[in-house]
Amino acid sequence: MSEPTPLTESAVEQATDAAIAAFAAATTLAELRTARAAHAGEQSPLAQFNASLKTIPVEERAAAGKLVGQGRARVGEALSAREAELAVAEENARLAGEAVDVTAVASRWRTGSRHPLSLLMEHMGDVFVGMGWEIAEGPELENEWFNFDSLNFDEDHPARAMQDTFFIDPVESHLVLRTHTSPVQIRSLLTRDLPVYVVAPGRVFRTDELDATHTPVFHQIEGIAIDKGLTMAHLRGTLEHLARAMFGAEAQIRLRPNYFPFTEPSAEMDVWQPNAKGGARWVEWGGCGMVNRNVLRAAGIDPDEYQGFAFGMGIERTLQFRNDMNDMRDMVEGDIRFSQQFGMVV
Ligand code: DAH
Repeated sequence: MSEPTPLTESAVEQATDAAIAAFAAATTLAELRTARAAHAGEQSPLAQFNASLKTIPVEERAAAGKLVGQGRARVGEALSAREAELAVAEENARLAGEAVDVTAVASRWRTGSRHPLSLLMEHMGDVFVGMGWEIAEGPELENEWFNFDSLNFDEDHPARAMQDTFFIDPVESHLVLRTHTSPVQIRSLLTRDLPVYVVAPGRVFRTDELDATHTPVFHQIEGIAIDKGLTMAHLRGTLEHLARAMFGAEAQIRLRPNYFPFTEPSAEMDVWQPNAKGGARWVEWGGCGMVNRNVLRAAGIDPDEYQGFAFGMGIERTLQFRNDMNDMRDMVEGDIRFSQQFGMVV
Protein backbone atom coordinates (compact mmCIF):
# COMPACT_ATOMS: atom_id res chain seq x y z
CA MET A 1 0.00 0.00 0.00
CA SER A 2 1.23 3.47 -0.91
CA GLU A 3 1.84 6.10 1.73
CA PRO A 4 -1.49 7.88 2.54
CA THR A 5 -1.74 11.53 1.39
CA PRO A 6 -1.38 13.79 4.45
CA LEU A 7 -4.64 15.43 5.49
CA THR A 8 -4.19 19.08 4.55
CA GLU A 9 -6.70 21.74 3.55
CA SER A 10 -5.51 21.76 -0.04
CA ALA A 11 -5.55 17.95 -0.25
CA VAL A 12 -9.18 17.90 0.92
CA GLU A 13 -10.05 20.67 -1.51
CA GLN A 14 -8.34 18.88 -4.36
CA ALA A 15 -10.10 15.60 -3.61
CA THR A 16 -13.43 17.46 -3.37
CA ASP A 17 -12.91 19.30 -6.65
CA ALA A 18 -11.78 16.11 -8.38
CA ALA A 19 -14.97 14.38 -7.20
CA ILE A 20 -17.25 17.20 -8.36
CA ALA A 21 -15.48 17.36 -11.75
CA ALA A 22 -15.80 13.59 -12.21
CA PHE A 23 -19.54 13.71 -11.46
CA ALA A 24 -20.02 16.56 -13.95
CA ALA A 25 -18.14 14.57 -16.59
CA ALA A 26 -20.38 11.51 -16.19
CA THR A 27 -22.94 11.46 -19.02
CA THR A 28 -24.94 8.42 -17.91
CA LEU A 29 -26.10 7.01 -14.58
CA ALA A 30 -23.77 4.08 -15.12
CA GLU A 31 -20.77 6.39 -15.54
CA LEU A 32 -21.92 8.31 -12.46
CA ARG A 33 -21.95 5.11 -10.40
CA THR A 34 -18.33 4.46 -11.41
CA ALA A 35 -17.38 8.04 -10.49
CA ARG A 36 -19.17 7.71 -7.15
CA ALA A 37 -17.24 4.55 -6.26
CA ALA A 38 -13.97 6.31 -7.08
CA HIS A 39 -14.68 9.62 -5.35
CA ALA A 40 -17.24 8.88 -2.63
CA GLY A 41 -16.72 5.16 -2.01
CA GLU A 42 -14.93 3.54 0.92
CA GLN A 43 -11.58 3.66 -0.87
CA SER A 44 -11.95 7.25 -2.03
CA PRO A 45 -9.47 9.90 -0.84
CA LEU A 46 -12.17 11.68 1.21
CA ALA A 47 -13.19 8.45 2.92
CA GLN A 48 -9.58 7.78 3.72
CA PHE A 49 -9.19 11.29 5.14
CA ASN A 50 -12.25 10.63 7.25
CA ALA A 51 -10.85 7.35 8.52
CA SER A 52 -7.56 8.97 9.31
CA LEU A 53 -9.17 11.55 11.62
CA LYS A 54 -8.80 9.26 14.61
CA THR A 55 -5.06 9.24 14.18
CA ILE A 56 -4.86 13.01 14.29
CA PRO A 57 -3.82 14.72 17.52
CA VAL A 58 -6.89 15.64 19.54
CA GLU A 59 -6.31 19.41 19.41
CA GLU A 60 -6.27 19.38 15.58
CA ARG A 61 -9.04 16.85 15.16
CA ALA A 62 -12.04 19.17 15.29
CA ALA A 63 -10.70 21.49 12.60
CA ALA A 64 -9.64 18.61 10.39
CA GLY A 65 -12.99 16.88 10.94
CA LYS A 66 -14.80 20.04 9.91
CA LEU A 67 -12.68 20.29 6.75
CA VAL A 68 -13.31 16.71 5.75
CA GLY A 69 -17.00 16.97 6.69
CA GLN A 70 -17.50 20.04 4.51
CA GLY A 71 -15.73 18.37 1.59
CA ARG A 72 -17.83 15.24 1.91
CA ALA A 73 -21.02 17.31 2.17
CA ARG A 74 -20.19 19.19 -1.06
CA VAL A 75 -19.40 15.93 -2.81
CA GLY A 76 -22.69 14.42 -1.59
CA GLU A 77 -24.68 17.39 -2.88
CA ALA A 78 -22.95 17.37 -6.26
CA LEU A 79 -23.59 13.65 -6.54
CA SER A 80 -27.31 13.80 -5.89
CA ALA A 81 -27.75 16.87 -8.10
CA ARG A 82 -25.99 15.15 -11.02
CA GLU A 83 -27.91 11.94 -10.34
CA ALA A 84 -31.25 13.78 -10.59
CA GLU A 85 -30.12 15.52 -13.78
CA LEU A 86 -29.01 12.31 -15.48
CA ALA A 87 -32.14 10.43 -14.38
CA VAL A 88 -34.33 13.06 -16.03
CA ALA A 89 -32.18 13.04 -19.21
CA GLU A 90 -32.30 9.25 -19.43
CA GLU A 91 -36.05 9.16 -18.90
CA ASN A 92 -36.54 11.77 -21.63
CA ALA A 93 -34.33 9.84 -24.03
CA ARG A 94 -36.29 6.64 -23.31
CA LEU A 95 -39.64 8.37 -23.94
CA ALA A 96 -38.35 9.95 -27.13
CA GLY A 97 -37.22 6.53 -28.33
CA GLU A 98 -40.65 5.04 -27.67
CA ALA A 99 -42.56 7.93 -29.24
CA VAL A 100 -45.01 7.05 -32.03
CA ASP A 101 -45.60 9.54 -34.85
CA VAL A 102 -49.36 9.38 -35.12
CA THR A 103 -49.26 11.60 -38.20
CA ALA A 104 -46.95 9.27 -40.15
CA VAL A 105 -48.42 7.80 -43.35
CA ALA A 106 -49.29 4.18 -42.66
CA SER A 107 -47.37 1.62 -44.63
CA ARG A 108 -49.77 -0.88 -46.24
CA TRP A 109 -49.87 -3.79 -48.63
CA ARG A 110 -51.17 -2.96 -52.07
CA THR A 111 -54.04 -5.33 -52.57
CA GLY A 112 -55.09 -4.44 -56.12
CA SER A 113 -58.64 -3.84 -57.23
CA ARG A 114 -61.09 -4.72 -59.98
CA HIS A 115 -60.57 -3.30 -63.45
CA PRO A 116 -63.17 -0.69 -64.56
CA LEU A 117 -64.18 -3.03 -67.40
CA SER A 118 -64.89 -5.88 -65.00
CA LEU A 119 -66.91 -3.58 -62.77
CA LEU A 120 -68.92 -2.20 -65.69
CA MET A 121 -69.62 -5.69 -67.00
CA GLU A 122 -70.74 -6.79 -63.56
CA HIS A 123 -72.88 -3.67 -63.18
CA MET A 124 -74.64 -4.38 -66.50
CA GLY A 125 -75.23 -7.97 -65.43
CA ASP A 126 -76.67 -6.74 -62.13
CA VAL A 127 -79.26 -4.60 -63.92
CA PHE A 128 -80.66 -7.84 -65.39
CA VAL A 129 -80.33 -9.85 -62.19
CA GLY A 130 -82.47 -7.10 -60.66
CA MET A 131 -85.19 -7.97 -63.21
CA GLY A 132 -85.01 -11.67 -62.39
CA TRP A 133 -82.71 -12.71 -65.25
CA GLU A 134 -79.85 -15.18 -64.79
CA ILE A 135 -76.19 -14.91 -65.69
CA ALA A 136 -74.95 -17.58 -68.12
CA GLU A 137 -71.47 -18.51 -69.26
CA GLY A 138 -69.92 -20.26 -72.21
CA PRO A 139 -66.41 -21.27 -73.29
CA GLU A 140 -64.03 -18.85 -74.97
CA LEU A 141 -62.67 -21.69 -77.09
CA GLU A 142 -65.89 -22.43 -78.92
CA ASN A 143 -67.17 -24.94 -81.38
CA GLU A 144 -67.73 -23.46 -84.83
CA TRP A 145 -71.27 -24.81 -84.79
CA PHE A 146 -72.19 -22.76 -81.70
CA ASN A 147 -70.33 -19.67 -82.88
CA PHE A 148 -71.76 -19.67 -86.44
CA ASP A 149 -73.95 -22.53 -87.75
CA SER A 150 -76.50 -22.65 -84.96
CA LEU A 151 -76.81 -18.88 -85.21
CA ASN A 152 -77.90 -19.16 -88.83
CA PHE A 153 -74.65 -17.94 -90.41
CA ASP A 154 -74.44 -19.16 -94.02
CA GLU A 155 -71.40 -21.21 -95.01
CA ASP A 156 -70.10 -18.19 -96.94
CA HIS A 157 -71.00 -15.44 -94.45
CA PRO A 158 -68.15 -12.87 -94.45
CA ALA A 159 -67.73 -13.13 -90.66
CA ARG A 160 -66.40 -16.65 -91.16
CA ALA A 161 -63.56 -15.42 -93.33
CA MET A 162 -60.02 -15.48 -91.98
CA GLN A 163 -59.76 -11.74 -91.33
CA ASP A 164 -62.32 -11.83 -88.50
CA THR A 165 -61.95 -15.16 -86.79
CA PHE A 166 -59.13 -16.88 -84.95
CA PHE A 167 -59.46 -20.46 -86.20
CA ILE A 168 -57.77 -23.18 -84.18
CA ASP A 169 -55.43 -25.70 -85.79
CA PRO A 170 -56.21 -28.21 -87.13
CA VAL A 171 -59.15 -26.85 -89.12
CA GLU A 172 -60.94 -30.21 -88.71
CA SER A 173 -61.20 -29.51 -84.97
CA HIS A 174 -63.86 -26.93 -85.88
CA LEU A 175 -62.77 -24.83 -82.94
CA VAL A 176 -62.57 -21.04 -82.93
CA LEU A 177 -61.95 -18.35 -80.36
CA ARG A 178 -65.51 -17.15 -80.04
CA THR A 179 -66.05 -13.95 -82.04
CA HIS A 180 -69.06 -12.89 -79.97
CA THR A 181 -71.04 -13.94 -76.89
CA SER A 182 -74.02 -15.04 -79.04
CA PRO A 183 -73.11 -18.75 -78.90
CA VAL A 184 -74.13 -18.62 -75.22
CA GLN A 185 -77.69 -18.06 -76.52
CA ILE A 186 -77.79 -21.57 -77.94
CA ARG A 187 -75.93 -23.11 -75.00
CA SER A 188 -78.44 -21.55 -72.61
CA LEU A 189 -81.42 -22.72 -74.63
CA LEU A 190 -80.04 -26.26 -74.81
CA THR A 191 -79.38 -26.54 -71.07
CA ARG A 192 -82.29 -24.66 -69.50
CA ASP A 193 -86.00 -25.13 -69.24
CA LEU A 194 -88.21 -22.54 -70.89
CA PRO A 195 -88.87 -19.72 -70.36
CA VAL A 196 -85.27 -18.47 -70.52
CA TYR A 197 -84.09 -15.03 -69.48
CA VAL A 198 -80.29 -14.88 -69.41
CA VAL A 199 -77.43 -12.46 -69.95
CA ALA A 200 -73.95 -13.69 -70.81
CA PRO A 201 -71.08 -11.31 -70.20
CA GLY A 202 -67.68 -12.43 -71.39
CA ARG A 203 -64.52 -12.20 -73.42
CA VAL A 204 -64.50 -12.42 -77.22
CA PHE A 205 -61.79 -12.41 -79.90
CA ARG A 206 -61.35 -11.00 -83.38
CA THR A 207 -58.33 -10.62 -85.62
CA ASP A 208 -58.39 -6.83 -85.34
CA GLU A 209 -55.32 -4.65 -84.90
CA LEU A 210 -55.11 -2.81 -81.59
CA ASP A 211 -56.01 0.84 -82.20
CA ALA A 212 -58.02 3.62 -80.55
CA THR A 213 -61.35 1.90 -81.21
CA HIS A 214 -60.48 -1.82 -81.61
CA THR A 215 -58.79 -4.46 -79.54
CA PRO A 216 -58.39 -8.09 -80.67
CA VAL A 217 -59.60 -9.25 -77.23
CA PHE A 218 -62.64 -7.48 -75.88
CA HIS A 219 -65.85 -8.06 -73.93
CA GLN A 220 -69.52 -8.23 -74.75
CA ILE A 221 -72.71 -8.81 -72.89
CA GLU A 222 -75.32 -10.90 -74.61
CA GLY A 223 -78.97 -11.17 -73.66
CA ILE A 224 -81.65 -13.59 -74.70
CA ALA A 225 -85.25 -13.92 -73.56
CA ILE A 226 -87.46 -16.75 -74.83
CA ASP A 227 -91.01 -17.01 -73.62
CA LYS A 228 -94.53 -17.16 -74.98
CA GLY A 229 -95.72 -13.97 -76.65
CA LEU A 230 -92.59 -11.84 -76.42
CA THR A 231 -92.54 -8.96 -78.92
CA MET A 232 -90.25 -6.16 -79.99
CA ALA A 233 -91.96 -3.97 -77.41
CA HIS A 234 -90.47 -6.17 -74.67
CA LEU A 235 -87.06 -5.86 -76.34
CA ARG A 236 -87.38 -2.12 -76.50
CA GLY A 237 -88.52 -1.75 -72.90
CA THR A 238 -85.73 -3.99 -71.65
CA LEU A 239 -83.02 -2.07 -73.50
CA GLU A 240 -84.46 1.26 -72.42
CA HIS A 241 -84.28 0.12 -68.81
CA LEU A 242 -80.64 -0.85 -69.28
CA ALA A 243 -79.89 2.48 -70.96
CA ARG A 244 -81.42 4.42 -68.05
CA ALA A 245 -79.52 2.34 -65.50
CA MET A 246 -76.30 3.08 -67.35
CA PHE A 247 -76.73 6.66 -68.55
CA GLY A 248 -79.32 8.24 -66.29
CA ALA A 249 -83.10 8.62 -66.14
CA GLU A 250 -83.30 10.75 -69.28
CA ALA A 251 -81.48 8.28 -71.53
CA GLN A 252 -83.47 6.96 -74.50
CA ILE A 253 -82.84 4.36 -77.16
CA ARG A 254 -83.71 4.12 -80.84
CA LEU A 255 -83.72 1.10 -83.12
CA ARG A 256 -82.58 1.26 -86.75
CA PRO A 257 -83.19 -1.62 -89.17
CA ASN A 258 -80.14 -3.80 -89.67
CA TYR A 259 -79.19 -7.37 -90.51
CA PHE A 260 -77.95 -10.16 -88.25
CA PRO A 261 -78.34 -13.78 -89.31
CA PHE A 262 -79.61 -14.83 -85.88
CA THR A 263 -82.39 -12.26 -85.52
CA GLU A 264 -85.34 -11.33 -87.73
CA PRO A 265 -86.19 -8.51 -87.72
CA SER A 266 -82.83 -7.12 -86.61
CA ALA A 267 -81.91 -3.67 -85.43
CA GLU A 268 -78.97 -1.53 -84.52
CA MET A 269 -79.55 0.17 -81.19
CA ASP A 270 -78.46 3.75 -80.49
CA VAL A 271 -78.58 5.37 -77.09
CA TRP A 272 -79.39 9.03 -76.42
CA GLN A 273 -76.85 10.19 -73.94
CA PRO A 274 -78.22 13.42 -72.44
CA ASN A 275 -75.21 14.19 -70.28
CA ALA A 276 -72.37 13.40 -72.71
CA LYS A 277 -69.33 15.65 -72.29
CA GLY A 278 -69.54 17.32 -75.71
CA GLY A 279 -73.33 17.70 -75.41
CA ALA A 280 -76.27 15.33 -75.76
CA ARG A 281 -75.91 12.84 -78.65
CA TRP A 282 -76.98 9.54 -80.18
CA VAL A 283 -74.34 6.81 -79.93
CA GLU A 284 -74.38 3.41 -81.62
CA TRP A 285 -74.45 0.90 -78.78
CA GLY A 286 -75.27 -2.62 -79.90
CA GLY A 287 -77.26 -5.02 -82.01
CA CYS A 288 -80.61 -6.67 -81.27
CA GLY A 289 -83.69 -8.26 -82.75
CA MET A 290 -86.28 -11.00 -82.49
CA VAL A 291 -84.61 -14.41 -82.32
CA ASN A 292 -84.64 -16.00 -85.78
CA ARG A 293 -86.93 -19.04 -86.11
CA ASN A 294 -83.95 -21.05 -87.39
CA VAL A 295 -82.06 -20.35 -84.17
CA LEU A 296 -85.01 -21.58 -82.11
CA ARG A 297 -85.15 -24.71 -84.24
CA ALA A 298 -81.40 -25.30 -83.78
CA ALA A 299 -82.09 -25.34 -80.04
CA GLY A 300 -85.02 -27.72 -80.45
CA ILE A 301 -87.68 -25.12 -79.72
CA ASP A 302 -90.93 -24.83 -81.67
CA PRO A 303 -90.94 -21.23 -83.05
CA ASP A 304 -94.74 -21.29 -83.28
CA GLU A 305 -94.96 -21.81 -79.56
CA TYR A 306 -92.08 -19.72 -78.20
CA GLN A 307 -90.61 -16.43 -79.36
CA GLY A 308 -88.07 -14.08 -77.96
CA PHE A 309 -85.55 -11.35 -78.41
CA ALA A 310 -81.78 -11.04 -78.15
CA PHE A 311 -79.24 -8.29 -77.97
CA GLY A 312 -75.52 -7.81 -77.59
CA MET A 313 -73.18 -4.91 -76.97
CA GLY A 314 -69.48 -4.26 -76.40
CA ILE A 315 -68.30 -3.46 -72.89
CA GLU A 316 -65.14 -1.57 -73.99
CA ARG A 317 -67.24 0.57 -76.28
CA THR A 318 -69.75 1.24 -73.50
CA LEU A 319 -66.99 2.27 -71.11
CA GLN A 320 -65.45 4.42 -73.83
CA PHE A 321 -68.43 6.62 -74.56
CA ARG A 322 -69.91 6.44 -71.08
CA ASN A 323 -66.69 7.89 -69.65
CA ASP A 324 -65.55 10.02 -72.59
CA MET A 325 -62.40 8.04 -73.27
CA ASN A 326 -60.57 8.69 -76.50
CA ASP A 327 -58.36 5.66 -76.71
CA MET A 328 -59.37 2.06 -76.03
CA ARG A 329 -55.71 1.08 -75.68
CA ASP A 330 -55.66 2.75 -72.26
CA MET A 331 -58.00 0.01 -71.06
CA VAL A 332 -55.67 -2.84 -71.90
CA GLU A 333 -52.27 -1.49 -70.97
CA GLY A 334 -52.52 -2.40 -67.30
CA ASP A 335 -51.36 0.99 -66.03
CA ILE A 336 -52.89 1.42 -62.57
CA ARG A 337 -53.16 5.18 -63.14
CA PHE A 338 -55.94 4.34 -65.57
CA SER A 339 -57.95 2.50 -62.92
CA GLN A 340 -57.22 5.19 -60.33
CA GLN A 341 -59.05 7.73 -62.49
CA PHE A 342 -62.15 5.66 -61.82
CA GLY A 343 -61.63 6.02 -58.08
CA MET A 344 -60.02 2.62 -57.55
CA VAL A 345 -57.71 2.39 -54.58
CA VAL A 346 -54.81 0.23 -55.65
N1 DAH B 1 -73.22 -10.81 -81.85
C1 DAH B 1 -73.33 -9.48 -82.45
C2 DAH B 1 -71.92 -8.90 -82.66
O1 DAH B 1 -71.00 -9.40 -82.09
C3 DAH B 1 -74.10 -8.56 -81.56
C4 DAH B 1 -75.53 -8.93 -81.52
C5 DAH B 1 -76.40 -8.43 -82.43
C6 DAH B 1 -75.99 -9.81 -80.57
C7 DAH B 1 -77.74 -8.75 -82.43
C8 DAH B 1 -77.33 -10.16 -80.55
C9 DAH B 1 -78.19 -9.62 -81.49
O2 DAH B 1 -77.84 -10.99 -79.64
O3 DAH B 1 -79.51 -9.96 -81.45
O4 DAH B 1 -71.78 -7.97 -83.37
